[in-house]
Amino acid sequence: MKDQLNVALIGTKFMGRAHSNAWLNVGKFFFTPPLPMMHTVAGRNPNDLEEFAERWGWEHHTTDWLAAVEDPRIDLVDIATPNHIHAEQAIAALEAGKHVVCEKPLAGTLSDAEAMTHAAEKADGQTFVWYNYRRVPAVALAHRIVQSGALGRLYHVRAAYLQSWGGPETPLVWRFQADIAGSGAHGDLQAHIIDAVRFVTGEEIVSVEGAIEHTFIEQRALIGGTAGAEIAGTGAGTDAGMGQSTVDDAVLFLGRMAGGALASFEATRLATGYHNANRFEIHGEDGAIRFDFERMNELGYYDARGEGATAGWTVIDVTRGGDGHPYAEAWWPDSHGLGYEHSFVNQAADIVSMIGGRSPVVPMPDFKDALRTQRVLEAAIVSARERMPVSIDHDDSGGSS
Ligand SMILES: NC(=O)c1ccc[n+]([C@@H]2O[C@H](COP(=O)([O-])OP(=O)(O)OC[C@H]3O[C@@H](n4cnc5c(N)ncnc54)[C@H](O)[C@@H]3O)[C@@H](O)[C@H]2O)c1
Repeated sequence: MKDQLNVALIGTKFMGRAHSNAWLNVGKFFFTPPLPMMHTVAGRNPNDLEEFAERWGWEHHTTDWLAAVEDPRIDLVDIATPNHIHAEQAIAALEAGKHVVCEKPLAGTLSDAEAMTHAAEKADGQTFVWYNYRRVPAVALAHRIVQSGALGRLYHVRAAYLQSWGGPETPLVWRFQADIAGSGAHGDLQAHIIDAVRFVTGEEIVSVEGAIEHTFIEQRALIGGTAGAEIAGTGAGTDAGMGQSTVDDAVLFLGRMAGGALASFEATRLATGYHNANRFEIHGEDGAIRFDFERMNELGYYDARGEGATAGWTVIDVTRGGDGHPYAEAWWPDSHGLGYEHSFVNQAADIVSMIGGRSPVVPMPDFKDALRTQRVLEAAIVSARERMPVSIDHDDSGGSS
């Protein structure tokens, strides 16, 4: 095994920064080898790119992502670009013999996700998907608690991902264009909670019983006269005219888990007052858990076997390495909380471990795993549009919803 891992990153904005921070810090907090080397960053704007490479410590930069992917010195390709191009970039990297870590959702469409999974099956490289919330310590602990059987038979799963940045003032960035994003809040936010529920329960979502999707804001300001400018946020004042949003602003659906629990999911960019409320609650015969990313260092646990007047919810401060809390040992003393960026560093650590032949702290989604999340996304949209229940075939020998 090589003791270094040369990384090529594609994309330099929101996730480009989050991933750069992860590659920069992982070797300082976690055991490696192989030690990730920030070899090449690929982006589109040569001026921004040079500044980005210098700021984050990327050794080389290029505007030709394919050249970076095919460079024989590169071992791992990290994809942090919009959803429509994941398939082309990931398949090129797999065919070039690289390990690939791709942002979520795996792709904008189910067919792209299937093509990527197919390519991964034929390739030598390992695949990983940045469902980073699995590596928030409280979510990883929730996984361990539920997998230990502490909740008993599961009855209810309730998941919501609530943000509020997508009002009429937000221009027509790529996230509002179906040909680039695939879907709106659904692929952007719902994908995360579908993955989290699958991860924590260890069960597949086997049907969507009903769903609704809605686009509240149909027209949005064009940026500089074109759609698809790179800004991710709001406030691009423009008089360049208006364009059509082609994605959902919100999707809600009901489903069934393989073990029989009933599940509800809600994803929206218009939940006024919530900014990143990525939440789930799971109720079983013997107990319950609840998580809200806006209080990410805490996990709620209810032991239904507790006695009388003292029975109640326990708020676990998931920062205590000495008590075996996942990832905590690598970081700070007890109750010195972690933030959003640590989930990416934790995931980078597990990717490096797996490439080095060691086990991740908690299970890692590969392309095949992320395809199952993509099937649920697709089933919910079919259910909403056709107004009918949709069962989901997770037979990995080729079936889809
Ligand atoms: N894991 C998470 O928590 C999380 C959070 C946000 C976004 N994401 C995902 O990350 C991906 C990127 O989102 P973002 O918020 O960083 O977007 P962004 O708009 O901030 O950045 C996108 C980057 O991709 C580059 N790019 C766009 N089209 C390209 C092309 N055709 N070829 C090469 N580069 C191209 C842009 O130049 C830019 O650098 C998406 O798949 C998104 O769903 C994940």
